[in-house]
Amino acid sequence: MKYYHLQNHEDYKAAYKASIESPEAFWEQIASTHFVWKKKWDSVLNWDFTKPEVKWFEGAKLNITENCIDRHLEQRANKTAILFEPNEPNEPAQHISYTELHERVCKFANVLLQQGIKKGDRVCLYLPMIPELAVSVLACARIGAVHSVVFAGFSAKALATRINDCDCKLVITSDGAFRGNKTIHLKEIVDNALESCPNVHKVLVAKRTQSHVHLKQGRDFWLQPLLDQASKDCAAVSMNAEDPLFILYTSGSTGIPKGMVHTTAGYMVYTAYTFKNVFQYTEDDVYWCTADIGWITGHSYIVYGPLANGATTVLFEGVPSYPDYGRFWQLVEKHQVTQFYTAPTAIRALAKEDIAHVTQNDLSSLKVLGTVGEPINEEAWHWYNEHIGNKNCPIVDTWWQTETGGIMISPIPNSTKRIIPTFATLPLPGIQPVLMNEEGEVMSDSPASGKLCIAFPWPGMARTIWGNHERYKATYFSTFKNHYFTGDGAFRNKAGYYRITGRVDDVIIVSGHNLGTAPIEDAIDEHPDVTESAVVGVPHDIKGNALYGFVSLKNKAKSEETLEKEINELITQHVGPIAKLQTIQFTDGLPKTRSGKIMRRILRKIAQGTTDDLGDISTLLNPEVVAAIKENAKRS
Ligand code: PRX
Repeated sequence: MKYYHLQNHEDYKAAYKASIESPEAFWEQIASTHFVWKKKWDSVLNWDFTKPEVKWFEGAKLNITENCIDRHLEQRANKTAILFEPNEPNEPAQHISYTELHERVCKFANVLLQQGIKKGDRVCLYLPMIPELAVSVLACARIGAVHSVVFAGFSAKALATRINDCDCKLVITSDGAFRGNKTIHLKEIVDNALESCPNVHKVLVAKRTQSHVHLKQGRDFWLQPLLDQASKDCAAVSMNAEDPLFILYTSGSTGIPKGMVHTTAGYMVYTAYTFKNVFQYTEDDVYWCTADIGWITGHSYIVYGPLANGATTVLFEGVPSYPDYGRFWQLVEKHQVTQFYTAPTAIRALAKEDIAHVTQNDLSSLKVLGTVGEPINEEAWHWYNEHIGNKNCPIVDTWWQTETGGIMISPIPNSTKRIIPTFATLPLPGIQPVLMNEEGEVMSDSPASGKLCIAFPWPGMARTIWGNHERYKATYFSTFKNHYFTGDGAFRNKAGYYRITGRVDDVIIVSGHNLGTAPIEDAIDEHPDVTESAVVGVPHDIKGNALYGFVSLKNKAKSEETLEKEINELITQHVGPIAKLQTIQFTDGLPKTRSGKIMRRILRKIAQGTTDDLGDISTLLNPEVVAAIKENAKRS
């Protein structure tokens, strides 16, 4: 019990100290007192960042669904596990109890088994935010299949890349998705994707929108009739601690997306522990995270972390603007939400709307507010604090990544003495952040600004990139010796508080979504009139960043307007609508180094309008292009 629930600053201090002085004893104590194991571990931690290899709780056997569902059946049989709120406000919410969740997961797991899915097989989930998504995640985990959830806003091409990369055998999707006043034909997208996925032999289709779909004979099946026939008992497969639980793709600065592999025991322990403390969840709370399960936030803090604590977790199908901008706040009142976790981009968008959308609702149930995914600016922070939290709810600005599995740096309500807007504040127990200078040296004094690294393993970290351990090593463990490199820059103040300043690589965060520039540029370059392109981020009031593309043309026959439309269509097809460019500037060439590399630093400054100091451009291969690009820069 000692360290599991941190209730004040003394608890945090003691836990942090113990977690640094004897990490193995610290995590062992948490693992052994708060989870159910089929067999306990032989060793708590084995690690070597030079390989890199990290193993937590080796020798242990468990099933995460027994921890998230079965063990709650005695005490919380009728408690709501998942509270589903549909897109349409007049469609009733569904309260799925732990008993019902158990039955639905077991039935789904049996359907997967009948379709020939075995432990270790990869299953792709391409679904809207409906109960079937959470249920199918858990059903895979029940039988040891590795789920790979692909956010249902990605295009057919992006879906196909992800299906093929980890060789999924089966895809779970739905006829369609409701998002605000739109209906998206998901099954059609899957059909297109599967034209280039020869190894997918089965597709299970949930019914949601009643849209007309084509079922390919022998390959596609409606889900419901199969579920109706399935038994409601399904034994939970015994998993080794380090067996993969899921793969989740995240963008890199180059190449195809990286399939981050999370394993079973460490991920479970870490997400459960961080959920409990960062949100200070207590038994009768109603917790709501507005993310999509297609992102890591949804995996860790809609599904696994909350359910491992026996929580009630809200699953919302819709969007914050439908039917009006008050939807989030209406739902807080309707379901008496106690913890609310969202992205700064949503806060900024809602803060721009009429405040009556907020004040019409009683938000007094709220106790803790959270943000995730990008830095939060002061203005948005204060709006959230005053109007949503009534200055009465601690705001947890949680910094973490797909790769870290769970929250790494964050305030803990009641424990963090002073919360400062825009600071993610202090590391959670077990996390050893360091800042590195340009020479690759640890900066031990504060204040300091540097590249954010982690010096010691934590249980929730991704263990590899699916099928490409070398890339995992090169991306995360080669920039700084013996350290995990996050790709983020950070500032640390005198009190040791961290403020994340943003990516230091070519990943751009737009509306909280991580976008690599490479796949977007590849899509642009598909256009027959384009020679090459470079995409950079520019600050945007609501989205945090927007995309600005420099495109050099080999053929100028078409109007710029037509080209812009065609380019954004290509991006929508290849990546998805979230990656569309806000601004496109056509150029005669792009500035390059003598070795032919595009100088993004210069383009970034031009796009952002900070051209006073472009640095020395005389060493460029083609310095003459810079003046013209600068002159024709577009302001939005
Ligand atoms: O740059 C950091 C930013 O989001 C990146 C991770 O993105 P992703 O893997 O998609 O995971 C997002 C949800 C965990 C980080 O490298 N980021 C995340 N949280 C914050 C943040 N930047 C500033 N403050 C945060 N609280």
